[in-house]
Amino acid sequence: MTTYNLALIGFGGVNRALAQLIDEDPTRFAHLGFDLKVVAITDLLMGSLVQEDGIAISEVLALPRGTTFEAFPGGSATADNESVIRHDAVDIVAEATFTNPVDGEPAASHVRWALEAGKHVTTTNKGPIALHGKALKHLAEETGAHFAYEGSVLSGTPVLGLARDQFAGLTILGVQGILNGTSNYVLGRMEAGLSLNDAVAEAQAEGYAEADPTADIGGSDVQLKVAILANELLGADIAPEDVDTTGITDITADHIINAAREGKRYKLIGTARRDANGTLTATVAPEAVPADHPLANIPGATNAVSVETDLLGTVTITGPGAGRIETAYALITDIIAIHSHEKEKVNV
Ligand code: HSE
Repeated sequence: MTTYNLALIGFGGVNRALAQLIDEDPTRFAHLGFDLKVVAITDLLMGSLVQEDGIAISEVLALPRGTTFEAFPGGSATADNESVIRHDAVDIVAEATFTNPVDGEPAASHVRWALEAGKHVTTTNKGPIALHGKALKHLAEETGAHFAYEGSVLSGTPVLGLARDQFAGLTILGVQGILNGTSNYVLGRMEAGLSLNDAVAEAQAEGYAEADPTADIGGSDVQLKVAILANELLGADIAPEDVDTTGITDITADHIINAAREGKRYKLIGTARRDANGTLTATVAPEAVPADHPLANIPGATNAVSVETDLLGTVTITGPGAGRIETAYALITDIIAIHSHEKEKVNV
């Protein structure tokens, strides 16, 4: 049995959920040949905690809001991210700080420090992948660390892994999807008569929305995801600003009612496609789609991606695209991939 020592960078909903899953059942991954020990946590509000023998997760999860790690052995009130990430005891860094759509920081530096130090990285953070994915993948190749980011698109629903593994023998011609749970939830609630603002408040209460929900409603969250899908699935090399983006901010009750009269529903759709000449187009825009459109009936905060391929036609995967446990499961998927990668190295 291999034990991986984890550093959790950012102790918000996602890494808390991962810690909770490990704590609830320490043998959860025994059938896969590994177990996980949390040896370090950093958080902007709580500071840093490093305990090489393993942190008592239930104690940390029960801390009242506003408490720092200062009073703990190995604790400090400041988030010493770089020294924690580079710490000798750490094998895998789970990066789940907030997404910064402008420069990807500080998450991009967290990932870079980890890869430089030869630590494997799993992240759910879209910023570093959409903005610095190529350089970070190159760094991982150089240092032999594994860099995994399944949760950057569709949280735990495995679109990147599906494309990388099961679709490896296909040519992918295009992708189209509902990539933001908040906006899909909001459009559904507006169909039920709520105002955009009230519907956004509900999505925030449900925990789907980004720290700044204008990223969900304005389309920039989907813009990052379309850039990631284009680069990962279509072999493109684009930046988020190459994705022509319109959000749902200007969709009104009248738009929704008029679309319904024509048997249509508004959906915020992200698309990346190559034409016959290989030219890539990448867009995000609200579309009134007919009831028989494959994405018309994707409900609530659910996400979906339709992948257009040469040999299989169109394959659609649908599932959660947000949520604490669902996104923490993406980290687990990545850790399973890291374990397979490590086993292959041993067997070569
Ligand atoms: N705020 C995002 C959504 C969560 O609503 O889909 C994951 O990117």
